[in-house]
Amino acid sequence: MRIGVLTGGGDCPGLNAVIRSVVRTATTHYDSEVIGFRDGWRGLLEDRTTPLDIAAVDGLLTRGGTTLGSARVAPERLDAGIAEMKGVLARHGVDVLIPIGGEGTLTAAHLLSQAGVPVVGIPKTIDNDIDETDLTFGFDTAVSIATEMIDRLHTTAESHQRVLLVEVMGRHAGWIALHAGLASGAHLTLVPEEPFDIDEVCRLVTARFERGDSHVIGVVAEGATPLPGTMPLRDGGLDEYGHRRFTGVASQLGEELERRTGKEVRTTVLGHVQRGGTPTSFDRVLATRFGLHATIAAHAGEHGQMVALHGTEIELVPLARAVARLKTVSASRLAETGAFTG
Ligand code: F6P
Repeated sequence: MRIGVLTGGGDCPGLNAVIRSVVRTATTHYDSEVIGFRDGWRGLLEDRTTPLDIAAVDGLLTRGGTTLGSARVAPERLDAGIAEMKGVLARHGVDVLIPIGGEGTLTAAHLLSQAGVPVVGIPKTIDNDIDETDLTFGFDTAVSIATEMIDRLHTTAESHQRVLLVEVMGRHAGWIALHAGLASGAHLTLVPEEPFDIDEVCRLVTARFERGDSHVIGVVAEGATPLPGTMPLRDGGLDEYGHRRFTGVASQLGEELERRTGKEVRTTVLGHVQRGGTPTSFDRVLATRFGLHATIAAHAGEHGQMVALHGTEIELVPLARAVARLKTVSASRLAETGAFTG
């Protein structure tokens, strides 16, 4: 059998571990061949490939990023390119395609699958917002990095009796903010799922200082928004993929907070550091198991599926179900932070 692999969307620690796992499983268990498409769907559309054998994946387990490269492609381009992509896959004799990616990549994988291409998807994203899987790889690494950074901010905030706001990634889902906030003992966690009330935030900050606490740490997901009409937030419009362009919610909140409470506020934006570098051991294992089970599924003819973590087991779920909606933070998960914030 010949398997095609590609990595799409924003990169994430563990992608290389998956590629290695697919290649090792396909070669050693099945005597199959693997071919990589460069830069996600773009490489498939433009017929840019690279052979992937055991030597090519040597040393990849621990390396961040993706050796295949990644890119975002506008959904319209993908829609219009189905026939082209099928042609390229046929030319290379690809029997099954394994796309590794987040919501956009898996939605495209579903489209191709509906068009008759045998596909097994692998979910990745530091945001952890893919539905039907308990976790995606990359998330644990991002949370570990954010937690370490917030731990460091506690001590400097204490020394200066400041409010320190930390902006973490999380476009539609606040999983990183929720977990890093809980893990680092943040006093305030703002997520995209629940618009924040600036009056409440000011009350919390003032109350903490009034009772003699030395500092405030707030974790703010990049996609967090104020309740309509309560605080201005600059509008950055939409990018070419239809995503909202962020304008820095934490720094705008910080300015408003400083103005209203008179407390000194500093803002740290963690940005892409959360996506860089080597994956944690948890993500290496999850990525390796996803790659292994996706390759087994590919050979077993279980197509149109996505590998998913359920408890401790890796199982298959239909791609159609996995991309039907995003997995966001529920009100009850958010409420769990109540006893530890404020
Ligand atoms: O989807 C993962 C993610 O890291 C989001 O959290 C973030 O909004 C986005 O990618 C940023 O992507 P980029 O800057 O690479 O386009």
